[in-house]
Amino acid sequence: MGHRAVANAIRAARFITVEGLEGAGKTSCLDYLVELLRNRAIEAVLTREPGGTSLGEAVRALLLDHRFRGMAGDAEALLIFAARAQHLAEVIRPALAAGQWVVCDRFTDATYAYQGGGRALGATRVGMLEHWVQGDLRPDRTLYLDVPVTVGLERIASRGIPDRFESERRAFFERVRRVYLERCRAEPQRMRWIDAGGSRETVHTQIAAALADLFNDGVEAR
Ligand code: TMP
Repeated sequence: MGHRAVANAIRAARFITVEGLEGAGKTSCLDYLVELLRNRAIEAVLTREPGGTSLGEAVRALLLDHRFRGMAGDAEALLIFAARAQHLAEVIRPALAAGQWVVCDRFTDATYAYQGGGRALGATRVGMLEHWVQGDLRPDRTLYLDVPVTVGLERIASRGIPDRFESERRAFFERVRRVYLERCRAEPQRMRWIDAGGSRETVHTQIAAALADLFNDGVEAR
């Protein structure tokens, strides 16, 4: 690959994250997103948080386990960022450096929402850890799939045994949603609000529109 081609490939790499309450439809959104990228011959790494590495998946199991019902909010946030540090080192940064797109099911907006809001740790503490672990790295685009809390909780009611987060009360998810909505308002260019309450088709149309500008630069270089 010539020097110029390498520069183009690196410029083309994008980091996209998908967020939403449980039951918002992230899985279907991720499937559609991967299809959109594949149709444009864009190679993407699909990954998730907490998780994405063997250490991260082990931490995820701890986080979701009911045995740790009494986990302190700070311990929870630190475990999440420990898993994230490994994920960045092992998967996300190397992929972006190689010019590959990265699509991640949840990232740090979830920590602002669930730990900062849900567990009431506040944005300042989460911001300190974000700075420590990520430096300047932020997603290029985040899709926030919005559903009212009642709708999300109804959708997950039929999914089997709830994990430690899914067992939280309604008020917890209301705090989580409030933070997500605030973040969409504060950073509308990066964080796109998607009305996820409608039909699959209307959700897909919004997702395609929210990503359209990312497909216009650098991709031709491939
Ligand atoms: P999932 O529902 O996307 O599989 O994520 C598992 C749970 O982890 C979900 O209930 C939200 C929670 N979570 C946090 O509380 N903070 C975070 O930073 C992340 C990435 C996930």
